Amino acid sequence: MERAGKLITFEGPDGSGKSTQVQLTARALQEGGYSVLVTREPGGTRLSEAIRGLLLDPCYQEMSPVTEALLYAGARAQLISEVILPALAEGKIVLCDRFVDSSFAYQGYGRGLSLDLLHLINQFALTKLGNFYTILLDLPPKEGLDRSKEEILRDRLEQESLEFHQRVRDGYHALARSSPGRIKVIDASLEPEVVQKQILEYVSAYLLDQDQGYPF
Ligand code: TMP
Repeated sequence: MERAGKLITFEGPDGSGKSTQVQLTARALQEGGYSVLVTREPGGTRLSEAIRGLLLDPCYQEMSPVTEALLYAGARAQLISEVILPALAEGKIVLCDRFVDSSFAYQGYGRGLSLDLLHLINQFALTKLGNFYTILLDLPPKEGLDRSKEEILRDRLEQESLEFHQRVRDGYHALARSSPGRIKVIDASLEPEVVQKQILEYVSAYLLDQDQGYPF
């Protein structure tokens, strides 16, 4: 039987183990017979990866929050039209390392941009995308930053203050409270195997249609 494609996004602070968990989830789903596509934001297409380079390069300290939000949305629009929509049409399970909630958390709660405006910009970017589902790996920012790269290797966003990263985390919590059906929160300080088990429980419910996912 042909399975419908579905999008699952993974969110969380830098250093939350997100990318590892995305890979583990992909492997588990493939072993379960699903056709899986893994991608990331910002990035995932030639153009979106070029935009990623601009966004994360610490040399662009002058980038305004609005420019930043538009570039993230631009990279997202390209990824959706070039990769995500075609994969969903082929019945694939798409796992995306970060997605639109990162814009609300970082540009909205972190930078202080209006959530309504971010919604508007992203509605434009997400045109034609149906329901999706989100796993949020939660971790105190200090723990995440300590776990991530050495200070000198940090990208433009990772170099932001601890206060900025605390606002991002609070923002993620607020998003999870306002979309409890779509966003499932998991404590990322637990052992990676425990985190993976919890992810697979949520993801299975979504894939087995016990949970329909939610529109943006
Ligand atoms: P990462 O892919 O290594 O997680 O790096 C991406 C960085 O970009 C991370 O610090 C979060 C940030 N980001 C935003 O600020 N807004 C967004 O919309 C996205 C997708 C990422």
